[in-house]
Amino acid sequence: MDLTKLHNLLDSLTLQEKIGQLVQLSGEFFDATDISLGPQRQLGITQETVDLAGSVLNVAGARDVRRLQAAHLKKGRHPIPLLFMADVIYGYKTVYPIPLGIGATWNPDLVEQAYVNAADEARAAGLHVSFAPMVDLVRDPRWGRVLESTGEDPYLNSRFAAAMVRGLQKNLAAGDGVISCVKHIAAYGAAEAGREYNPADVSTPSLFQDYLPAYKAAVDAGVKMAMTSLTTLNGVPATADKWLLQNILRDRWGFTGLAISDYASIYELIQHGFAQDPTDAASKAIDAGVDIDMKSPCYATGLQPLVTSSRLSEEKINTSAWRVLKLKNELGLFEDPYGGTTEEKEHTRLLTPEKRSLARDLSRQALVLLKNDADILPLDSSANQRIALIGPYADEQKMLGLWAVHGDPQDTVTIKAGFADYLAPQQLQTAKGTDVIRDRLMFTGMGLAEEQINQTISPAADEQKNRSEALETAKNADVIVFAAGEHTLQSGEAGSRTRLRLPDNQRQLLAELRKLNKPIVLIVISGRPLVLTDVQDQADAILQAWFPGTEGGHAIADVIFGRYNPTGRLTMTFPYDEGQLPLYYNHLNTGRPADKNHPTRFVSRYIDAPNKPLYPFGYGLSYGSVQYGELKLDSDTLAAAGRDELTAAISVTNTGTVPREETVQFYIHDQVASIVQPVKRLIGFQKVPVQPGETKTAALTITPDMLSFANRDGEFITEPGMFDLFAGPNSQDVHQTSFSLTE
Ligand code: NOJ
Repeated sequence: MDLTKLHNLLDSLTLQEKIGQLVQLSGEFFDATDISLGPQRQLGITQETVDLAGSVLNVAGARDVRRLQAAHLKKGRHPIPLLFMADVIYGYKTVYPIPLGIGATWNPDLVEQAYVNAADEARAAGLHVSFAPMVDLVRDPRWGRVLESTGEDPYLNSRFAAAMVRGLQKNLAAGDGVISCVKHIAAYGAAEAGREYNPADVSTPSLFQDYLPAYKAAVDAGVKMAMTSLTTLNGVPATADKWLLQNILRDRWGFTGLAISDYASIYELIQHGFAQDPTDAASKAIDAGVDIDMKSPCYATGLQPLVTSSRLSEEKINTSAWRVLKLKNELGLFEDPYGGTTEEKEHTRLLTPEKRSLARDLSRQALVLLKNDADILPLDSSANQRIALIGPYADEQKMLGLWAVHGDPQDTVTIKAGFADYLAPQQLQTAKGTDVIRDRLMFTGMGLAEEQINQTISPAADEQKNRSEALETAKNADVIVFAAGEHTLQSGEAGSRTRLRLPDNQRQLLAELRKLNKPIVLIVISGRPLVLTDVQDQADAILQAWFPGTEGGHAIADVIFGRYNPTGRLTMTFPYDEGQLPLYYNHLNTGRPADKNHPTRFVSRYIDAPNKPLYPFGYGLSYGSVQYGELKLDSDTLAAAGRDELTAAISVTNTGTVPREETVQFYIHDQVASIVQPVKRLIGFQKVPVQPGETKTAALTITPDMLSFANRDGEFITEPGMFDLFAGPNSQDVHQTSFSLTE
């Protein structure tokens, strides 16, 4: 529809109709036969609220979307189509590894294509908006939602944020993409002590330098929606933070899209102690710039009285309603309210072989080989070895992770199925060995019913039988592969933990298997960096597999049997002990850094644990070996003025017998600055494929803007002085040089 007509439509709406466009309700409201009863009524939601609502949360699938849309269009005075929004965070039906695994690919180009495919599936299934990407920077793996983030580095997170936004929105014009909604503005990942929904207190320099860049990168990439965080940032709930949503997001970054609250976060302003009642909460949220109220009664019940009593200008409502209508129009919904979705189209677009193939590639690039003593991996499938594949994830389809809400475990390739492609039947024996977890208290604390808990926790006799079978199976094998990991409910939203070990029952079984004195390969399925310190010595090789997604079993088998030489590199530090948390590579120095070569007392260290992590940021092994040369610069000065640049280069020689790809990482340290700078921070990387015997050079062009940092006003500045430059295979093993930045 042309914009004049759209304006006319807005002008013809009553105040209540316009407010309706700002209300988002979930599917059950639309399906309810009698809205005057039940929890809706307690919330103050009436049938009229539902009839006038502008968007629907978490309904997907061509059939349901078409049904709800058709019914809705019959209702109002104006046939304004509903927007359908849902979480398609790392795939719709074809589920990718969790974003922490996606981060480990260090491959934004591949990720962009994966998100084109995710959007294609989602749109075919009737969705218009995906609440993705989630780009919260994370430093504390106690927080369950680290699963949804690409990690702890602002530069990498920004690259991935932009790639995901571009991918999701790429085919919008052709009617195949979805609107991307970046979240959660801002710094949700800084939740204190990693406890879910806890406050975030972040200094201004760190906010601008560490936490905000990825959201900004999404805005720069053209993201059309933004979601607020459920938490407070420096004392103000993000959902009512005008400074954040107006001054920074819109005025400074130029965001012109729609802002939506998170689930009931407007209502929660009351619980936060920031608003008196639902009307006050509505007033504060709309004033801050939140256009759509997700799943709370505040806008539906509060905005009209605010306007009629002149406490809120109708102009505010018009601005937000216009943004909603414009988005509907951009999607072509006034011409085709179904947005092109049909059951036939959906059928041809979901889980196609091409989409599965890309997912397999993404999934294997996400796998990080943490340990490989005596080059025990890859296993030689032609060597006629007998392999005992043991553990709760050996033959388990629930490998999608908590936020794959539309994915179906039944579509998932198990590790056993992946192995079966490589091994003759007599070479492969599988045994569950133990449950994923046997912690009944954890589940009861979550409010799970007995029957649900019993689906996970087997009766003691069965558990005993599983263990004996596993040990028997292992005794007859040449190699043990132990597929271990977290339960899906142990990470993701509301999955905060204080102890980050593998579940006790799994560790006990692993210890028993170790006594058999056979080579052990440990596969770790998890939504976060676990503390692997106490299982490190129980295995000869460790493969970090995250929740690997629909094609997980294939991907893991490809790496274990050497069809794919692992390239994954960690984007989040793996701690040595929970007591070190938060722990991240790009930290500031102290005035008294510890030096392990000179033991002394009053320095910044733990007396009962190392400062260092178990595995650092950027770390990951590949098969074979490489050698790095010297780090060289083509100039030792860089001028801040003009368009000066210098080039850093380092050679990589493949000294092994197999081709491999090196992810060469470049880090910077500003030696002296008016705001103390991180000991290292990533400024670039290059992926270098090297054949055996070959030497290649990785290079990075450095410009002054890459050396800038945020000051106390949140402005980026550069200061002349000396900079250290580092390059290497991870943030710890680096070659070093330096140069100066001049005026
Ligand atoms: C709450 C989560 O915090 C958010 O990430 C998600 O998009 C919404 N629920 C909608 O499901």
